[in-house]
Amino acid sequence: MTPTRMLGAALVAVMMALTLTACATMQAEPEPSLYKRLGGREGIANVVDDFVANLVADARVNARFKGMAVPAVFKLKSNLSDQICDATGGPCSYLGRDMKTAHQGMKVTDAEWSATVENLTKALDKRKVGAKEKSELLGVLGPMKGDIVGQ
Ligand code: HEM
Repeated sequence: MTPTRMLGAALVAVMMALTLTACATMQAEPEPSLYKRLGGREGIANVVDDFVANLVADARVNARFKGMAVPAVFKLKSNLSDQICDATGGPCSYLGRDMKTAHQGMKVTDAEWSATVENLTKALDKRKVGAKEKSELLGVLGPMKGDIVGQ
């Protein structure tokens, strides 16, 4: 290779490296976790509060929660919050029972499942959670249906 060609090749290599660096720095910021976009612990706790209030007010499902004492409802809310935080990339660990065990023997029906999802959606709407976050959260919880319904 002549010195001129070598210089040319070196120049091309430097330009390629510069282009690659520019591409790397121009890359969009990674999207915050769903946990963060839901408003973190506080945002999730607010949604869970409204979700459970909706369930308790809904004649299609509230018989399920009627017998629960106040501390049990409190525990259910804290478990639901931890579960959502854990499943959406937040700094929590869900320590409650797995969904199959928690709903064992209840014979939850398809209609009750739909009513529950409706009540969750209503809570997310009330708290002005965006359409994208709403469908992402439902996408995270949806696959639990098989462990909850009909057990
Ligand atoms: C998105 C769907 C659902 C999720 C994420 C969910 C999540 C949970 C969680 C985390 C618990 C607490 C587990 C524990 O105490 O260790 C629980 C308990 C319970 N769930 Fe669900 N659940 C869902 C759907 C339903 C449905 C459709 C029903 C019936 C209408 C239902 C009825 C109950 C009841 C009655 C308890 C209390 C059980 C007890 O304390 O003995 N759940 N659920």
